[in-house]
Amino acid sequence: MNQSINKLPPTIIFIFGGSGDLAYRKLLPALYNLYIDKYLPEKYFIYGIGRTEFNENEYLDYIKKGISSFSRRKENLEEIWKVFSPNIDYIKADLEQEATYKDMADKVAVKEKEWGEKANTMYYMSVAPQMAPMIATKLHEHKLTEDPCRSRIVFEKPFGHDLKSAMDLNILLGTMFKEEQIYRIDHYLGKETVQNILALRFANALFEPLWSSHYIDHVQITVAEDIGVEGRGSYYEGAGALRDMVQNHILQLVCMIAMEAPVSFAADEIRNKKLDVLKAIRRWQKDEVHRNAVRGQYSEGWVHGKEIIAYHAEKGVTPASPVETFAAVKFYVDNWRWKDVPFFVRTGKAMQSKSSLIVIEFKPAPQFSFPAEAGETWRPNRLVISIQPQMNIRLRFQAKRPGPQMLLQPVDMVFNYTDAYGDNSPEAYETLLEDVIEGNPTLFMRADQVEMAWEIIQPILEAWHTRPPVDFPNYEPGTWGPEDAEALIARDGYNWTTLPK
Ligand code: BG6
Repeated sequence: MNQSINKLPPTIIFIFGGSGDLAYRKLLPALYNLYIDKYLPEKYFIYGIGRTEFNENEYLDYIKKGISSFSRRKENLEEIWKVFSPNIDYIKADLEQEATYKDMADKVAVKEKEWGEKANTMYYMSVAPQMAPMIATKLHEHKLTEDPCRSRIVFEKPFGHDLKSAMDLNILLGTMFKEEQIYRIDHYLGKETVQNILALRFANALFEPLWSSHYIDHVQITVAEDIGVEGRGSYYEGAGALRDMVQNHILQLVCMIAMEAPVSFAADEIRNKKLDVLKAIRRWQKDEVHRNAVRGQYSEGWVHGKEIIAYHAEKGVTPASPVETFAAVKFYVDNWRWKDVPFFVRTGKAMQSKSSLIVIEFKPAPQFSFPAEAGETWRPNRLVISIQPQMNIRLRFQAKRPGPQMLLQPVDMVFNYTDAYGDNSPEAYETLLEDVIEGNPTLFMRADQVEMAWEIIQPILEAWHTRPPVDFPNYEPGTWGPEDAEALIARDGYNWTTLPK
């Protein structure tokens, strides 16, 4: 049934952590959708690998349940499942045992014989980060990744937990693999609305002349979630909002907004342009951190009528935990284009609503020609890119209110993804898995990008580590975070922007 229109080479996908949450909610549903869209190679096979015991067919039933709950497509599941599922199997294995890797090598050989040609292999580390180096080393030792053109290894975040550990990990991987084999995922880069930033900026002549400190006053990035850590306490205790969201997703968004135009869409060209932004971001000295970064932790409370337990009461969290569930930072990109333009970023759990928003606020137009009363609601132009859950771009400008007087009012011009394309855009993991299969690393983090991003947040991590918070918990669920975050942006005369209801 799958008449693959693409000519992708046969591919075997091994998912370490095949019985885990990511495989269940994201990876298998994404592969299922790629199959429907005929983006999987004609010859493919998926192995989930894990410790969990499944009896015959139990794994497939489990995966099917995940797909029926989390795939963006639910129609004709039974029919499609019949042709999709024969190419999935489960390997119960101890990942520390040599036999596991010998078995994998045998499985590759059997498939290649069956297909009558060489296969590409993808090894997806959907496991606790501390296990990934061990697995990678065993893959290397068993020569499963010997051919750099045919084998790819995918790493989920976090990639390291600070600058030093990320560098060590890069060095280790560098001794075993070619950089082009390594795919470090930042799932934000797979989101349609994030990729569209490149189209918005570089496929339109309109914005580029205005895209600099000459016309842009400041930039805001909000990535807010309305849920708490929800049982992920033990992971989160080793992370915190700065590591979990700022070091990766948010700094990547800063790069997309601030980068120069690439001369081509070649992976390294785009990644070089982003790296330039990371290099230019001002490193705060430790004693500057308190003026430019704010942290918070939520107490117990309510969001949308649902009770949220305090972070420190979560399972796996120490009662007086100093770990931040909210972070806001002011950055500067010290280059010609962005001289003195502040980039305010904030992210938090248990906030008032789920909303990922980029706001580009332009400098105010001179008001001279209008009488003061005309412009009581005078507002600067603003471009708001809403990444999720609403997917839209809105441009605010001043309009004349109908009537005999010249009264001005800000209005929005809105481009809405759902109106234009329906609400069935590919999920980030579909795009990213497809890119790995195709061997396109554009949307993945290169070693130097990861390190540069750690370098930027390292002083903040250190300053916060040296001075434990004294006021945690300091914000209630259902709010926009601690008061200090308002003060951070208010000092420069601004407010955080939220989407109109
Ligand atoms: C992950 C973080 O990278 O991103 C999670 O580890 C967070 O803590 C998630 O909830 C948010 O992703 P999204 O796509 O829902 O914005």
